[in-house]
Amino acid sequence: MKVTIIGSGNVGGQCACLLACKNIVEQIVLLDINKGVSEGKSLDISQMLSVVKSDTVVYGYTNDYSKSKNSDIIVITCGITRKQGMNRDDLLNINAKIICSAAKNSLIFSPNAKFIIVSNPLDIMTYVSYITLKIDYKKVIGMAGILDIARYKFFLSKKLNISCSSIQSLLLGGHGDKMVPLYRYSSIEGIPLKEFLTEKENEKIVSRTKKGGEEIVNYLGTSAWMAPSISIVEMIKSILKNSRKLFCCSALLNGEYDINNLFLGVPVILGKNGVERVIELKLNNKEFNLLHESANHIKKVINKLNI
Ligand code: 2OP
Repeated sequence: MKVTIIGSGNVGGQCACLLACKNIVEQIVLLDINKGVSEGKSLDISQMLSVVKSDTVVYGYTNDYSKSKNSDIIVITCGITRKQGMNRDDLLNINAKIICSAAKNSLIFSPNAKFIIVSNPLDIMTYVSYITLKIDYKKVIGMAGILDIARYKFFLSKKLNISCSSIQSLLLGGHGDKMVPLYRYSSIEGIPLKEFLTEKENEKIVSRTKKGGEEIVNYLGTSAWMAPSISIVEMIKSILKNSRKLFCCSALLNGEYDINNLFLGVPVILGKNGVERVIELKLNNKEFNLLHESANHIKKVINKLNI
């Protein structure tokens, strides 16, 4: 199995590192337009691998897409990241052009690959990749829900003083301020969350989750990369091993939730074909309206696309 990661910045590099340590793929190729970055990071990662006893081989190249030939999965992380004071939508047109070019160049050499999109604004960049690639929609998936849920679980675990690994949760909507963590579908080992905290208390945690990315940008001056990277690795594992795990990811909706032709965070089953199934939950009015608010926001941003 071969995975190519386009963009060897913080997210791309960390993703290659975590994936290589798992020893589940034969080859990882890192590509970047900045000379030497992929080469240097691939060497550093390669030099870790005897320590963790991984046989994965990691290569790095400057902008040479031919080296990505026959990849099973292409991960697109390239583009600019937000700086303090920016929101994800501010990156729209500059990243759209970068992502279009990365998608086109990757497809030439890996026509059968599944694509995981990570660049921001996430749901729109996933849509841009899909309309550029013109491949089966099941093969184009955006990474965001796993990350946002991980943040939500972390904040919940701190509030409740319960291990985050005992928390289950789902989240719908776009990767932005209008994401919809689902209180009703959250539990502690099956015990509904409402047994532990009120909806009002939950609202505070939801607000912090929505601003989770920004909180890190404010500390570091750039976007997060550790939690995003491990989220990508979990998606790769489920696809390559055909595990059919349920994750919240940005997937194309074809009428589910009364939404058409839009990539939005929903629970999906990830397997060898990419999105094997979109799970449609029975939402109450409040959840349905919040999801549609999020969808409408994404539609508005798509209308500002200039590609
Ligand atoms: C975040 O939420 C990078 O959008 C990403 O941290």
